[in-house]
Amino acid sequence: MFKIGVIGSGKGSNFVALADAVNRGQLDIEISVVISDVENAFILDRAKERGIESLYIPPGKFKTKLEPEVEQAYVNVLKKHNVDLVVLAGFMRIIKNTFLREYPKRIINIHPSLLPSFKGLEAWKQALEYGVKVAGCTVHFVDEGVDCGPIIIQREVMVKPDDTPERLHERIQVQEHIAYPEAVCLISNNAIIVEDRVVRVKE
Ligand code: GAR
Repeated sequence: MFKIGVIGSGKGSNFVALADAVNRGQLDIEISVVISDVENAFILDRAKERGIESLYIPPGKFKTKLEPEVEQAYVNVLKKHNVDLVVLAGFMRIIKNTFLREYPKRIINIHPSLLPSFKGLEAWKQALEYGVKVAGCTVHFVDEGVDCGPIIIQREVMVKPDDTPERLHERIQVQEHIAYPEAVCLISNNAIIVEDRVVRVKE
């Protein structure tokens, strides 16, 4: 069975979308463990409700990344569970060397914009303020850069004239919840090839 570990800092709706797809039989994988850097993150409750092992691992002294020893602690948990893929779902820190070395091309992230536009925080708000007419979400592999690894799936969302950041983010999340299970399905079925930066679905 293909195993994934999910890491998140927030409410965990993308985790729920993955868990629901597994329960519906649309995704033939096991979610082995959920880890958060935020002690009271809702994602941990949502994992517990579903009987999935969930762990809070304190992030250490930095605001935007994990301390190297803490990264090692995350990796140790993921290794203990023999995960094949690390799935970042609303994880608000940058992944560094320990992780990347242990899981080359085996860490994916979901970002709430059509990358390479609007990297970083509150991407939906950046998109609205910039005035784009089409926003969306991107599932991509994680590499040394921030929000810039090879793109697996993108889904678009039309911006409405009276959109607020919250309303736009809500509609982007609907698309995220379709895109993330699809991407995990492709990877777990060994259905993609990564050539430099370009991800192709096998014929
Ligand atoms: C999602 O919209 C995800 O794209 C975003 O955080 C939200 C998490 O929601 N991630 C980032 O901005 C990462 N740079 P969730 O906790 O409900 O899955």
